Amino acid sequence: MARLYAAVALITQLIRIVPTSAVIVDSLSALPKTKYDFVVVGGGNAGAVVANRLTENPRWNVLIIEAGPTHEDVFNTRVPGYVARLQQSPYDWNYTTIPQPGMNGRPIAIPRGHILGGTSTINGMFYTRCSSSDYNRWAKLTGDQGWSWNKILPYILKHEKWTAPADGHSDEGQYDPQYHGTDGNTFVSIAGAPQAIDVPMMKAAEELGGVFSYRQDMNSGNALGLGWTQLTVGHGERSSSATGYLGPKYITRKNLHVLVGHRAIQILKTATHKGVPSLRTVKFVAEDDPKGLVHEITASKELILSAGVIATPQLLLLSGIGDPKGLQSLGIKTVVNLPGVGKNMTDQPLVFLQWALGINGTVDATPQLDQEWLAEWNATKTGPLSAIGINQLGWLRIPEDSSIWSEYEDPSSGKNTAHIELSFTGGAFYPKPGSTITGVAIALQPHSRGSLNLSTTSPFDHPLIDMGFLNSDFDIFTMREGIAALKRFFDAPAWKEYKLKLVSPYPDDIEGQNEFIRHTASSAVHAVGTAGMSAKTASFGVVDPELKLKKAHGLRIVDASVMPYVPAGHTQAPVYAIAERAGDLIKADWPDSLSMISDTSNISHISAG
Ligand SMILES: Cc1cc2nc3c(=O)[nH]c(=O)nc-3n(C[C@H](O)[C@H](O)[C@H](O)COP(=O)(O)OP(=O)(O)OC[C@H]3O[C@@H](n4cnc5c(N)ncnc54)[C@H](O)[C@@H]3O)c2cc1C
Ligand SMILES: *[C@@H]1O[C@H](CO)[C@@H](O)[C@H](O)[C@H]1NC(C)=O
Ligand SMILES: *[C@@H]1O[C@H](CO)[C@@H](O)[C@H](O)[C@H]1NC(C)=O
Ligand SMILES: *[C@@H]1O[C@H](CO)[C@@H](O)[C@H](O)[C@H]1NC(C)=O
Ligand SMILES: *[C@@H]1O[C@H](CO)[C@@H](O)[C@H](O)[C@H]1NC(C)=O
Ligand SMILES: *[C@@H]1O[C@H](CO)[C@@H](O)[C@H](O)[C@H]1NC(C)=O
Ligand SMILES: *[C@@H]1O[C@H](CO)[C@@H](O)[C@H](O)[C@H]1NC(C)=O
Repeated sequence: MARLYAAVALITQLIRIVPTSAVIVDSLSALPKTKYDFVVVGGGNAGAVVANRLTENPRWNVLIIEAGPTHEDVFNTRVPGYVARLQQSPYDWNYTTIPQPGMNGRPIAIPRGHILGGTSTINGMFYTRCSSSDYNRWAKLTGDQGWSWNKILPYILKHEKWTAPADGHSDEGQYDPQYHGTDGNTFVSIAGAPQAIDVPMMKAAEELGGVFSYRQDMNSGNALGLGWTQLTVGHGERSSSATGYLGPKYITRKNLHVLVGHRAIQILKTATHKGVPSLRTVKFVAEDDPKGLVHEITASKELILSAGVIATPQLLLLSGIGDPKGLQSLGIKTVVNLPGVGKNMTDQPLVFLQWALGINGTVDATPQLDQEWLAEWNATKTGPLSAIGINQLGWLRIPEDSSIWSEYEDPSSGKNTAHIELSFTGGAFYPKPGSTITGVAIALQPHSRGSLNLSTTSPFDHPLIDMGFLNSDFDIFTMREGIAALKRFFDAPAWKEYKLKLVSPYPDDIEGQNEFIRHTASSAVHAVGTAGMSAKTASFGVVDPELKLKKAHGLRIVDASVMPYVPAGHTQAPVYAIAERAGDLIKADWPDSLSMISDTSNISHISAG
């Protein structure tokens, strides 16, 4: 009965106003009365891409339901240097883990974007495709060569629009054009705000060589070495999936509709065919009125779940899709028996150390300087705020002859895959350095796995999130190796003139080092895996290689949760690649002469660098 009322409420609201072209709206009454071929839950990094590609076919109506607000008037999302201001804000879901035993029982903050464009609207804008082996491992696990690096590269090139750095400096030799796309939706550029430490950084890499050898393009499929950071920044502004795929050029498509400020709360069985449920209906409510009217809508072709690594498994569990044992304990009836939902969650732990410069003439940020930088950014989109203060990244493997290999199997995807990422920030105060330099080490390929369960049956309560951080001694070993590499790097002659002194209390003994790491580490915020893909016949996994929910019809999952292993880097580029391919996978299942499927024939010959 409640359902009938909701449906009537929906229909009566839908017929009130019929706009002539689509826009981003926050009330149901502003949507046109129409049937939707596809409904995308979550207008985030992946969801925006899928909705864009599907609405290339003018015959298909697509609705995005996004919990957060529109990005359009949120100034801080445009300014790369203001990235930190987006956390613990209305644009962040503010998740935290349960106490992490491997991190001395501390709960760890897990930010996620609560805004159109999702986490791509609040992230650090690092553009890292990770290792070719990461994709090849997915291909092997799923038995679908379509996920291999060679087959996925065309989709990466399709989404990318390489652009000159914000300050217009020549980026020749700082990247390799053969690996980049120039006609896509997402601006990518070399960081366009020089820092004083750029000079010693590159000099130290040259002096040390070896694992720090110069890597001209860390996005060639092989990142190992040290090179220039690439950012999803164009002309000094953040490029997100909202700006790139739902921008003015696309949002006027008559068949693309975006409803913000509404939260999906449950997926419902639309029908059952031969015992297999069809899951094309979603229930949703206004974000600011959780107890208000419940609406529901049915996609005539497919429901696409793109709510991200936390909310996607949460919504599946709320809908009775998961491990029957866990569901039963909360009184939820099992609709699809899929024990893999919420399992195998993998994130990367991060630790940082700080060095002080023992010289005069350093410059640190002040409110006055910030105003000057903002004025510069406002005027010309240049200056320190046009980047994020990290102009180089290093990608290292634990050496082949390390003693750790007698105890642990290598968890990395291949010999060209980094175990450790290093990043460096020395204040974006060109030409003067800041008074400190921070070095960050990330364990990219951890052994530890986490999980996610419901805490309650309310879609407005955060789920229980366990990243399993540092549960494996291999991971803490990797962190120590990363810190050792940072220390080696800052011992290079190139740094001599700065008179660096380590100020973080990092001791010399292994016990003390472990304690420092467990006490200070946090999340690199790259969790994946909670609705992992696997081969059609596999006994584990949540979606098949075409991203369709197993044991069901009508529901596809397209976001970071489908990655069965975390790739060795930051995760937005892989999310873009998955979403671009998903667009074609969906089109292929609904043959229509007006659908444009990518012509990828010209680009697949580029192999990993
Ligand atoms: C602070 C931070 C910094 C990062 N920095 C980088 C970086 O520099 N480089 C990089 O490559 N990666 C970075 N990442 C990771 C990367 O951005 C994410 O892995 C990626 O964007 C995730 O994409 P997604 O599509 O899976 O999910 P999201 O982009 O999170 O999309 C999910 C969307 O669904 C919406 N949603 C959730 N639940 C519901 C619901 N019930 N109903 C309706 N809508 C819902 C959300 O509001 C969101 O818009 C960072 C992540 C964070 C948190
Ligand atoms: C996240 O926390 C901030 C600060 O406490 C708060 O203002 C914001 O509303 C929270 N985000 C959401 C989506 O509730
Ligand atoms: C986790 O993934 C691995 C493959 O990487 C698989 O063998 C295992 O069964 C998965 N675990 C669960 C609980 O789904
Ligand atoms: C910094 O400047 C002060 C004052 O001029 C001087 O006393 C001090 O020796 C200088 N320190 C260094 C490291 O040059
Ligand atoms: C920069 O522009 C923003 C947005 O228009 C405005 O709020 C801010 O005051 C401006 N600041 C300066 C210093 O120009
Ligand atoms: C979720 O439940 C499973 C099975 O009971 C358990 O193994 C796991 O630790 C739980 N995870 C969290 C985050 O509660
Ligand atoms: C592929 O190459 C041919 C010949 O150079 C060209 O005509 C065609 O447009 C190219 N297709 C794509 C998708 O780039």
